[in-house]
Amino acid sequence: MARPLIVVTGWIPQAGMDVLATAGDVVVSPADDPQRADRLSAAAAIVTLLTDRVDHALLDAAPSLQIVANVAVGHDNIDIAACHARGVHVTNTPGVLTDATADLAMGLILMSTRRLGEGERLVRSGEPWAWSMSMMLGTGVQGRRLGIIGMGGIGTALARRARAFGLSVVYHNRRRVDRAVEDELAAELLDLDDLLATSDIVSLHCPHTDATHHLIDRSALETMKRSAHLVNTARGPIVDEAALVAALAGGTIAGAALDVFEHEPDVHPALRSSDRVVLLPHLGSATVETRDAMATTAARNVVAVLDGGAPLTPVLPPKGDVGVS
Ligand code: DGY
Repeated sequence: MARPLIVVTGWIPQAGMDVLATAGDVVVSPADDPQRADRLSAAAAIVTLLTDRVDHALLDAAPSLQIVANVAVGHDNIDIAACHARGVHVTNTPGVLTDATADLAMGLILMSTRRLGEGERLVRSGEPWAWSMSMMLGTGVQGRRLGIIGMGGIGTALARRARAFGLSVVYHNRRRVDRAVEDELAAELLDLDDLLATSDIVSLHCPHTDATHHLIDRSALETMKRSAHLVNTARGPIVDEAALVAALAGGTIAGAALDVFEHEPDVHPALRSSDRVVLLPHLGSATVETRDAMATTAARNVVAVLDGGAPLTPVLPPKGDVGVS
């Protein structure tokens, strides 16, 4: 009997490829592959990256598809309803990138509040500099308030790190988190405006959905303290980037640190030239260990479905829910 065809849309770690090979014939077929259409037409599974759009057009081209296994926890690149309407499973990679992303968010908090990117650029520029009492002063995080929007796994992991750095934690979430977690973190659930108005640092950890698109817009930025910093390691379009540019230029907030962008990989030119913002190229999950784990999680989902079983980490159909996590 012919083995099922598994199409992978770009490079993934060998650990994932090895797992996939146990379930079928695997081809790597990026968007510019001239044989892509043929391959998709026969594909039983497709392993996608967060830069791939999975929409009606792709699903039309892949009539035998049983599963879309996204190698990411976020899945705003996939039309989930369209997949489910055709009986195609969708999976993501929750859990395995929690620590890596929370580490990065903590790093961005420190980079923004302590002006670390600016300092690095100064040294690299070759400009003369000398230590002085007043040079490049940032603000300490101890005793400050961190507001976490989206208190899922990554938000909670960031809260633990932040507590160790002496920050207090408030959060905004669709649901109140377990009392034990709230107690451990001394974390308080606030409505969005209260969180924005009282936090020294606001960090985004919600998915990008219709409800969270431009959640941080001009009005949200104006609600924040003038001394506050915004951190985004979630998805770019949660922030209205033009409004952020204006807020940074006008001193509405003090700084921002972004790992993701509204029109990724394009970055607003005014952000690139601003010293008030730290910019990273979507590195949240970029560790060798994490990418291996993401690839193997996606691959195990493919194996489970092609074996006739249930996916291990399914993305369920949207319920029209408007919450942030
Ligand atoms: C994800 O998995 O959604 C992350 O953005 C990858 O870095």
